[in-house]
Amino acid sequence: MRPIVEFAAVTRAYGARVALDDVHFELLPGELTFLVGPSGAGKTTLLKLINREIRPSSGRLWVAGMPAHQIKASRVAELRRRVGVVFQDYKLLPRLTARENVAFGLQVGDLRVSDEEARDRSLDALEAVGLGDRGDAYPHQLSGGQQQRVAVARAVVGQPQLLIADEPTGNLDQETAWQMMDLFEDIAAWGTAVLVATHNVEIVTRLQRRVLTLVQGRLVRDQPAGRTGRMAWLASS
Ligand SMILES: Nc1ncnc2c1ncn2[C@@H]1O[C@H](COP(=O)(O)OP(=O)(O)OP(=O)(O)O)[C@@H](O)[C@H]1O
Ligand SMILES: [Mg+2]
Repeated sequence: MRPIVEFAAVTRAYGARVALDDVHFELLPGELTFLVGPSGAGKTTLLKLINREIRPSSGRLWVAGMPAHQIKASRVAELRRRVGVVFQDYKLLPRLTARENVAFGLQVGDLRVSDEEARDRSLDALEAVGLGDRGDAYPHQLSGGQQQRVAVARAVVGQPQLLIADEPTGNLDQETAWQMMDLFEDIAAWGTAVLVATHNVEIVTRLQRRVLTLVQGRLVRDQPAGRTGRMAWLASS
């Protein structure tokens, strides 16, 4: 199986501060992987490299078949169509309904999508995240967990090969966080690679998925699914 993400000796510095140091790993289709580590370890930096928000200082990385370390600005939109992104604070547009938020995500990524197609596909995506009946609601009329579901629908409506999420349950209570993880497991089961940066130790420990651990910019551990012990970084976070 071809990897969806491949990091080869990736280093990223902000000035003199090395945020990621010689990182190597691959992600495969259909794999749900957690990215953990203390605050400042480099998790967000790693996700921003995947989405080509930033470039590595050195090393190479491939995302959905594209060389993110060297693609031109003109091809960034193409890369981002292959990567769905979810943030801690949802980032929904307040003046658009749930359905319009999802459709906007699709049309901003690909201008060839007609309004009618965007409407149909966004309704399908909302249905898939369990919000088929709330498409006309505005973000302020939805709970935090529901808003995050809309954000997930927006992230997957374009059928990306990869979904990355940065602390997606950081603003949710534990029960809602679990529901969000069920959703990520479903998305991985559909064949999308899913990478979730999180501080939620209970979820990471209980789900027994693959766990990548960053400490001070170094990938210090890559635990395969099914062998997740107590998180060593817990002591330091
Ligand atoms: N734009 C920036 N300019 C300078 N330094 C930065 C910048 N962004 C991140 N850093 C530094 O890079 C390191 C890694 O930061 P990053 O945000 O990737 O950590 P993180 O693991 O996501 O932390 P958290 O769990 O708190 O979100 C930190 O030392 C941080 O201060
Ligand atoms: Mg972060």
